[in-house]
Amino acid sequence: MNNEFKKNGFFVIKLKNKVGLSQLRKRFLSNFNTMSKLLTGKQIRSDKDLIKLYHSKHRYIWTAVYDILKFENLLFKLAGNKEIINVAKKADIKNPIFGTKPYVRVDMPNDPKYMFKAHQDYPYNRNSKNSIVIFIPLQKCLKKNGCLSIVKGSHKAKKVFSMDKKMIIKNNKKFKFTDVPLNFGEAVVFSQFLVHKSGYNLSDTVRFSVQLRLTDLAQKEYAKRGYFIVKS
Ligand SMILES: [Fe+2]
Repeated sequence: MNNEFKKNGFFVIKLKNKVGLSQLRKRFLSNFNTMSKLLTGKQIRSDKDLIKLYHSKHRYIWTAVYDILKFENLLFKLAGNKEIINVAKKADIKNPIFGTKPYVRVDMPNDPKYMFKAHQDYPYNRNSKNSIVIFIPLQKCLKKNGCLSIVKGSHKAKKVFSMDKKMIIKNNKKFKFTDVPLNFGEAVVFSQFLVHKSGYNLSDTVRFSVQLRLTDLAQKEYAKRGYFIVKS
C-alpha cells in the first residue's frame, strides 16, 4: 500500500490523460451551451458566459444541465480508464468496483451556499471500510478557486465523528485542516473516513470537478453487509 495513504489517509496522483480532462471540461461547457441555445438563443462558450447564465433569470438551465452532467458519456470514459483501477489497487483495494455513480461538481465563483463543510464520505455511502474517493478537478485547483482541505490521519481509526442532522461534523475546531492544491492533471485519492471540506471558489472562473468512489468486493465485512449500496 502507498505509505503516505496509510499514514495520512490521502495521496496525490498525476493522471496520464490530461487531454481527456480538458475534453471533458469542454464537453460540460458545451452541454450548457446546447440547452441555452435551444431555449434562449444565447451561446455558452466560456466560463464567463456560464457565470452570466448562472446569475440570470435563466438559472433553471444551469440547474437542469448540472443535474444531467453526471450521465455524460466522456465521464464514463474517464471512470472506466484502466488508470483509475490501478489507482484503487495502490490504495490496497483488492477487488475494485464503483461504490456510487460518478459525481460532478460545478462550483461557481463566490457562491458559498453550496460549500461542503467538514464531513466524512463514509456515512453517506457506507461502502467497504477501505473504500476511496478520487477527486479529479478539470482545471488546476488551488487555494484561490477552492482546493480540497483535509485532516491528515483522521481516517486511521475508521470511526465516524459526531455529526449534526445534515451530516456535518459538529466539533470541527478540534481538527487541523491542510489544503491540498492541485495542478491541472493531478487528483487526490482519499479514504472515505478522511475528514475533509470543500474550498471556497474566490476566483473569477468556474471550478469543475469529478469524484469517483471505489469500494472493495474482497472485504468480508462488506460482504456480510450484503454489499450495501445507497440506492438513488
Ligand atoms: Fe466529501
